[in-house]
Amino acid sequence: MISSLGYIGVGVSDTAAWTTFATQMIGLMPGEKVDGELRFRNDQQAWRLALIPGGKDDIAFAGYEVAGPAELAALRERLAVAGIACVADKALAARRGVLDLFTCVDPDGLTLEIYYGASERTEAPFRSPAGVSGFVTGDQGFGHIVLATRDIAAARRFYLELLGFRLSDIIRMQPAPGMSFELEFFHCNPRHHTLALAPVPAPKRLHHFMLQAASFDDVGFALERLEATNTPLTSSLGRHTNDHMVSFYCRTPSGFEVEFGHGARVVDDTIWRVARHDAPSIWGHHRAGRH
Ligand SMILES: [Fe+2]
Repeated sequence: MISSLGYIGVGVSDTAAWTTFATQMIGLMPGEKVDGELRFRNDQQAWRLALIPGGKDDIAFAGYEVAGPAELAALRERLAVAGIACVADKALAARRGVLDLFTCVDPDGLTLEIYYGASERTEAPFRSPAGVSGFVTGDQGFGHIVLATRDIAAARRFYLELLGFRLSDIIRMQPAPGMSFELEFFHCNPRHHTLALAPVPAPKRLHHFMLQAASFDDVGFALERLEATNTPLTSSLGRHTNDHMVSFYCRTPSGFEVEFGHGARVVDDTIWRVARHDAPSIWGHHRAGRH
């Protein structure tokens, strides 16, 4: 079973713009550069976000962490029995700085790297170049990602039945009159959702990734940095109906968005009940150009 989203890799066309955005806007700390990939940290882990130059401005891989070698072997066996091709790759594990991993592909073609044993850099503590006080990670992992899927039934089978995610809730989205779809939210640890799936055709697989700042003031200061550089928001400050996070969204240099927030509630599986919502936000989150 998956413990957390450990890292993501994004193929980018403009590494200079991304480096400025990652460090100065959202406050990530540069990590090591490995094989031309630019890596960034948001906690004690050696890296959490990799930018791959020359990419298609979309997610290139998602790294999911399991607890240890027994869990890695068990998950690989479970996937293999279900007919999912799994490839062990020692060289890739070394490049990622993890003890061991295998790769597989989700039903929509995204490469997943299932690993254990991430490198930590506690001897060089996380310091945000933009002054973010910290990010909520630990057993909740890097953050969350929201992906488009062409086949929600196949994606559900893969993520829920094989990888062990659990349904948190769904939101019936109504982006325009006469148009609606259900956004499904999945968790694998106390973070309300590590993955959400949108069953809609989209130009990019990745709609956004989310970073959860340690304090509410971190969100306010991030808003001020965007304002000072005339960087437009794609969604104004608001609080989500399901995870209760207060956040805003802005566009990354790759076109997909980043959600920057604070204050999400956590899931306790012993008492959690699945809910449905008809709106994504309690208040705010007004989309740019639409109110
Ligand atoms: Fe989000």
